Amino acid sequence: MGKDKLRKFQENETFKCLIQPATSEVLNCDHPMKGNWGRDFFGNDNPIVLELGCGKGDYTIDLAERNPSCNYIGVDIKGARLWKGAKYAEEHGLKNVGFVRTRIEFIESLFAPGEVSEIWITFADPQIGREKKRLTAPLFMNRYRNFLKPGGIVHLKTDSRYLHEYSIAMARQNDLKILAYGTDIYGEDREQLYASELSSVSGRSAIDALFEVQTFYESQYLAQGFPITYLAFLADHTGDYISPEWAEDLWKDEGHHFVIPSGLPVASKFYPEG
Ligand SMILES: C[S@@+](CC[C@H](N)C(=O)[O-])C[C@H]1O[C@@H](n2cnc3c(N)ncnc32)[C@H](O)[C@@H]1O
Repeated sequence: MGKDKLRKFQENETFKCLIQPATSEVLNCDHPMKGNWGRDFFGNDNPIVLELGCGKGDYTIDLAERNPSCNYIGVDIKGARLWKGAKYAEEHGLKNVGFVRTRIEFIESLFAPGEVSEIWITFADPQIGREKKRLTAPLFMNRYRNFLKPGGIVHLKTDSRYLHEYSIAMARQNDLKILAYGTDIYGEDREQLYASELSSVSGRSAIDALFEVQTFYESQYLAQGFPITYLAFLADHTGDYISPEWAEDLWKDEGHHFVIPSGLPVASKFYPEG
């Protein structure tokens, strides 16, 4: 391990805002913080919002600074990345920010039913051809449902049209209510987003934040000229989520950024609905 990484790992041990559960603390058992985040970590009952795969935590930090009346928790497995967000939160005395170093596969061990209000998934790996690892796949949605409040929102911001379209297909398959979507949020979709149901549910400022707050990866993709997509839906669902019909073979690999296969019906063209 490089010296810089080692220094960050050592410093991580000193950050109060960073929780690093041992695998034994989250594998098939509950972490002591489960159900107690409000009382033991934040010291208030404000809504809790998660960012899954938060990397360096820029988005978590920025949202927290904008909305002091909500609590934000960034989750990632990479300690050297989390160090950046945790260091900033410590140095700036941010009281409404926490970070957890763990695999998202263990997330149910950390949050109790109804403990979380919203989830952000930002620039996750689309996991092409590996549905079980995709963060909007039924396997993960079943986990999230166990701790999301009724009316809990999942936000997906991604440069990957594949992940965007898959997630819309998953939402449709499970009759989830789509609040907003766009395939080029900094381009033609901006006004459509202001007119979306998300705007009525969360307010115009939630849409503003979508444009004004950018993650580390997002700014890199934007600089390369890739359109950024967005999707927000309610996770409410009875019974297990199921996989959508998904024409995997028709998606042509263009590296990380898939093109829409010609002739394939694009899910988002069939939206929005009431
Ligand atoms: C492409 S990066 C995006 C980081 C950040 N959201 C951004 O936009 O700058 C994906 C992040 O997800 C994390 N990640 C991927 N799969 C994960 C998992 N199963 N559990 C925890 N973290 C995961 C990676 O460590 C990485 O930091």
